[in-house]
Amino acid sequence: MSSRLDALPPGPFARLADLLGGTAPGKEPISLALGDPSGAVPDFVKAAMDQNIASFGNYPAITGTADWRQAAADWLNRRFALGEAIDPEKHVLPLNGTREGLFLSLPPLLPEEKGGGRPIVAMPNPFYQVYAAGSLVAGAEPLYVAATEASGFLPDYAGLPEATLKRIAAVYICSPSNPEGAVANDAYWRRLFALAEAHDFVVLADECYADIYFGEPPLGALTARLNQSGGLARLLSFHSLSKRSGMPGLRSGIVAGHADLIARLRAFRNVGGPQVPGPILAASAAAWRDEAHVEAGRALYARKMALAQEILGNRMTRPQGGFFVWLKVGNGEDFARRLWREQGVRVLPGAYMGRETEPGTIQSNPGFPYVRIALVSDLVTIRAALERVAETLGTA
Ligand SMILES: Cc1ncc(COP(=O)(O)O)c(C=O)c1O
Repeated sequence: MSSRLDALPPGPFARLADLLGGTAPGKEPISLALGDPSGAVPDFVKAAMDQNIASFGNYPAITGTADWRQAAADWLNRRFALGEAIDPEKHVLPLNGTREGLFLSLPPLLPEEKGGGRPIVAMPNPFYQVYAAGSLVAGAEPLYVAATEASGFLPDYAGLPEATLKRIAAVYICSPSNPEGAVANDAYWRRLFALAEAHDFVVLADECYADIYFGEPPLGALTARLNQSGGLARLLSFHSLSKRSGMPGLRSGIVAGHADLIARLRAFRNVGGPQVPGPILAASAAAWRDEAHVEAGRALYARKMALAQEILGNRMTRPQGGFFVWLKVGNGEDFARRLWREQGVRVLPGAYMGRETEPGTIQSNPGFPYVRIALVSDLVTIRAALERVAETLGTA
């Protein structure tokens, strides 16, 4: 058996099941733990799927269809104000959701060694768990870089020691971030890309929440990179219909970036990656072309976030994007247990998305003081659950 993955703890939801397993819920249970968007599937998506159902009879190309590539490139160019910088034939590939893309991008990109040692892949801490799994499978050493209130809830990669930076072969960055909802601004992106140039690493920008925001649309990595350098060197940016369209069951995303990186991924995926089925590509192309359903979804998330603010008051910091509340409670595990026991409400201890920086000391996990609350249920359910959260917080 491979020992590569021994460093991975059980997943956050397995840990949550263990934490609450022996405790009876104090009231009718409501879960705000899982970020499952549960959106309605628009009729035009169903129609596109139906019209292309015959393509289940053929193997799909790893590059998708010309129609999908055009729809993906048009959306990226439009959403991120890129002019025509994204060429459908050079800069995009379809994914079965961003998760597999984030997982499978490192093996074809990472060198065997970097800066005199095993390559390092840096990632924010806390983070979406696939970043660590992808790094370990690719033979790299994951480096967990704290994203705390003091660092604007984004990792300060520029603050890493020189000896570490020279071994970094890739970094993951999430904006808007899960779990904190922080957005990287132009200065942050510029600093990151300058660091990537100086230390020769690739930036994997997970932007699957890019279309869920509460003020200005988040600046994308592609925009920042293009404005900074006139090109997309060292950048791969990941997008998804799971959040944008509320259709995680469709399993459909985009990876976009520099033509050389995309060519490398294409060659690797052609022998070892999963193709996206024809009817899914057709449904996805239709979804990328439509903004009305996205605006409706965004407006609903804004109402949910306003409701959370109304109930939790200044105990809560409003995120810039995404659909999570990252609530500071002192000890996330204790709070989650108490909330379940007293109120029957399930939330995720922040530590389960992070890593301890001092082994054996859960307090050294930057997620330790927090719980993550997903605002994906309907407004009535969210109100009922958050009123119970407020009671346990003592703010009701
Ligand atoms: C930060 C982040 N990245 C990626 C994903 C994966 O999304 P997809 O459904 O596109 O695979 C998720 C899903 O929860 C996520 O929260």
